[in-house]
Amino acid sequence: VFEVEVASSGAVVTVQKDESIVDALRRVDVDVITSCAQGVCGTCETGVLRGVPDHRDALLSEAERAESRCLYPCISRAVSDRLVLDL
Ligand code: FES
Repeated sequence: VFEVEVASSGAVVTVQKDESIVDALRRVDVDVITSCAQGVCGTCETGVLRGVPDHRDALLSEAERAESRCLYPCISRAVSDRLVLDL
């Protein structure tokens, strides 16, 4: 369980164990467009402003993971207690 903050509105939502970041964001009326929902297509790419993602996609290279300027919220989660997303 961790929190996601929407940078543009300041809205904060808790992401439960059994849901994705995309699912949780719907509760604060933020609609991230998805396609595969499995971390393979790249459609849902979202910028990360703060926090440490737990990348679970099959797209980012090691270097990109280390940088963590974006994540794929259909599948990825967080290591830190909160992620601030560029939404
Ligand atoms: Fe395909 Fe997220 S919807 S990577």
